[in-house]
Amino acid sequence: MTSTSTSTSTSTSTSTSTRTTPILDVKQLEGGYGSVQILNSIDLRVYEGEFVTIIGPNGSGKSTFLKMLFGLATHYRGTVLHNDTDVSGWRTDRLVGRGIAYVPQVDNIFPSLTVRENMQMGGIRLSAGKLTEGIGRVCWTFPDLESKISDLAATLSGGERQMLAISRALISNPSFLLLDEPTAALSPLYQQQIMSCIDGLRSEGMTVLLVEQNARLSLARSDRGYIFSGGKVVHTGKASEILDDPEIGAYFLGMQAD
Ligand SMILES: Nc1ncnc2c1ncn2[C@@H]1O[C@H](COP(=O)(O)OP(=O)(O)OP(=O)(O)O)[C@@H](O)[C@H]1O
Ligand SMILES: [Mg+2]
Repeated sequence: MTSTSTSTSTSTSTSTSTRTTPILDVKQLEGGYGSVQILNSIDLRVYEGEFVTIIGPNGSGKSTFLKMLFGLATHYRGTVLHNDTDVSGWRTDRLVGRGIAYVPQVDNIFPSLTVRENMQMGGIRLSAGKLTEGIGRVCWTFPDLESKISDLAATLSGGERQMLAISRALISNPSFLLLDEPTAALSPLYQQQIMSCIDGLRSEGMTVLLVEQNARLSLARSDRGYIFSGGKVVHTGKASEILDDPEIGAYFLGMQAD
């Protein structure tokens, strides 16, 4: 890691240099659960169309950060701008209304419901027409699910469950997707499949903020990355530079420094 690694850099990568307004601009964000503070002075930006990955050790606050962006953790201080609107501390339903979707790390489907019913739960606030349109759209994205639409979600494989979780988030046709470890506990084959699905969403214009344990798999297709530790951002930069940094690699990517 370089000497700049402990700063919360605000510089942007080459891929973002022409983009002036971030879709998400988080400044000095602090928050947690009730009175338990987890996040300290987080600065993070995501530009429209970007794929940004957050990595970091267990318990470093990655999931808490995504929850805060989706109104599921307590906001203390700092700002969250979404397309220039201050949405700090907003409730989840209002954030969904702005086109933000979130796939949690755990408990992200209802096993006792069918695939179709799970999808319907994802569009519970939509009109009947929009819901039908949404289900049609996600079935086109995930043909494996379409063939199992009447099956109980409990009968799906691990990879199919993650596809269903992502489908539920996509039903409302969001423009900004927050994904928390979608490849966790999946075989390498399913990990690749999920990442290919995310690649497909990106090619359709989706902006993605991903938390991922499999740093190598995610950074390889990301524009930029952030490293969290102890509830703080300890490094940020172009994904390729993070991948190529031997010291970061030794700490976070499961490889030895040269
Ligand atoms: N509901 C909660 N109430 C209080 N503390 C919590 C709660 N959920 C998580 N924490 C604590 O917040 C800290 C950050 O947890 P978080 O789940 O955000 O980490 P993470 O980086 O996502 O870890 P992992 O890689 O294991 O998923 C941890 O110390 C955890 O114990
Ligand atoms: Mg987590």
